[in-house]
Amino acid sequence: MYGTIAVGTDGSETATIAENVALQLATSSNGRVLFISAFTDGPSRRRSVEALERARARAGAAGVPVDAEPVKGEPAAGVVEIADRRNAELLIVGDIGMGERHMLRLGGVPDRVSHEMPCDLLIVRTSKPERAKGPGEYASVLIATDGSPTADRAARVGAEFAKAHGASVTLVHVGEEPVGEIILRDTAERLGDREMPIKVLAGDPGDRIAELAASEGHDLVVVGNKGMTGGLRFLLGVVPDKVSHQAPCDILIVNTVGRSAADLEPGEGGIVELDGKRVAAYRDEQGALTVLSPRCKHMGCTVGWNHRAKTWDCPCHGSRYEADGTVKNGPTRHPLDPIST
Ligand code: FES
Repeated sequence: MYGTIAVGTDGSETATIAENVALQLATSSNGRVLFISAFTDGPSRRRSVEALERARARAGAAGVPVDAEPVKGEPAAGVVEIADRRNAELLIVGDIGMGERHMLRLGGVPDRVSHEMPCDLLIVRTSKPERAKGPGEYASVLIATDGSPTADRAARVGAEFAKAHGASVTLVHVGEEPVGEIILRDTAERLGDREMPIKVLAGDPGDRIAELAASEGHDLVVVGNKGMTGGLRFLLGVVPDKVSHQAPCDILIVNTVGRSAADLEPGEGGIVELDGKRVAAYRDEQGALTVLSPRCKHMGCTVGWNHRAKTWDCPCHGSRYEADGTVKNGPTRHPLDPIST
């Protein structure tokens, strides 16, 4: 179900677990894997390159099409940048740095990635060797929904994921009993299985979902990313944030709420959602916004924002555009189309 699966790695033993999950998922979906490794200086660059070579060799042995890219800079920003630029549909990271001890210490790599995710994000519990199933083995999936359209999309993705792995699905809603039951029965019907097990719980949604995942031994929790981006990112208590820190199993956070132009800091660009469409937007240092079509004028691939060069780069044949969409280098000969707002 995912064509391009990106995975962040530093070559460590725990990162290798996340790499192997990426290879398993790519094998089952006939997809390809993009290994990304960040470095800050010469020695760490050498380690990154070596880690990527080892990962490439493992992918080759598994028969999975593979690509690899080292990136200079802070790991979370680097992984997000490359996954975004290369149009990954799923990004996988290990959970080291997200456990209970670190709950209030925002800033670990998986934590930061979860707040900037450019696509769906799978956080693999590499720190839980006692887990019932092996990494990447999903027999039981817990899907949380509040019945909203965005949660519905997460439920559909979760159900598709479960089907691809032959896993059972349980739906959970945290709220009022009668309303919750109606929401879950409707969701189950839309997912094509009226008999799907449902649970309506009372209390704090993040806490209850994580507790249920633990008590029933689910292998994966699926939630939408509503409440994880933009101005809400620092509000403790938002459901996906809490679940990603507390649930003892893997977490699939579905990218139901894309970034909006309001999320862009001065001097930053990115692919954001505007009126339901994905656009390339750049906010200059004075706060003025430039909005462009993200379709490269060479052959139509989607450009990505290059944080270091502050350019729009096309991953297909190397065209590069300035932040305002004018051509910096070819093969394109035409600027990105402006979009009026
Ligand atoms: S499609 Fe962008 S460079 Fe070819």
